[in-house]
Amino acid sequence: MFGWPRTSASIRRIGPAFAAACAKIHAQSFAHAWTLAEFESLLAGRDVVGEAAFATSLFGGRRLTGFVLSRRGADTAEILTIAVTPALRHKGVGAALLGRHLATLAAEGAKSLFLEVETDNRAARALYRRFGFAEVGERKAYYRRADGIAASALVLRRDFD
Ligand SMILES: CC(C)(COP(=O)(O)OP(=O)(O)OC[C@H]1O[C@@H](n2cnc3c(N)ncnc32)[C@H](O)[C@@H]1OP(=O)(O)O)[C@@H](O)C(=O)NCCC(=O)NCCS
Repeated sequence: MFGWPRTSASIRRIGPAFAAACAKIHAQSFAHAWTLAEFESLLAGRDVVGEAAFATSLFGGRRLTGFVLSRRGADTAEILTIAVTPALRHKGVGAALLGRHLATLAAEGAKSLFLEVETDNRAARALYRRFGFAEVGERKAYYRRADGIAASALVLRRDFD
């Protein structure tokens, strides 16, 4: 596989047409996969902002390599999920997606953004730290992992200037 330069991701808003691609990456990323119908419904929601990164092959084909979904309230928003296809992780796709998503949410009026992250998810916590998220709470035994063990979650917040 060719390495994609860190700046190559093209990021675009997505709707329900991309539900299957998102569901596939989600299933590869989380112990409890959301269904195709759940993604279709979320991506059709007026309060949901979905954005995805696309890579273009040498032959011009495009494929969705990562996505992020948030739900907007009056002046707050919550990241519902973010994931990058496993083979393309740690190449800057997640950072490119999150950076664009923060700009989109700020432009649409969000004053602060919240999310929950599993306490032992090192990659995600490092990504959020890099983008200035701060810990504002903890939810003990919030997740049920694939091995049945309960895992805690941190609540993170980032304010927009
Ligand atoms: C979290 C996730 C979206 C990051 O996407 P990514 O494309 O791999 O991230 P990037 O390559 O843009 O890396 C951005 C930063 O995240 C951190 N990071 C990424 N992967 C990491 C890893 N395996 N270990 C430690 N830090 C990591 C680093 O700080 C990195 O910055 P750096 O490259 O300057 O060191 C990806 O790992 C993923 O899909 N994980 C499974 C789904 C998930 O856990 N989502 C978050 C739920 S809250």
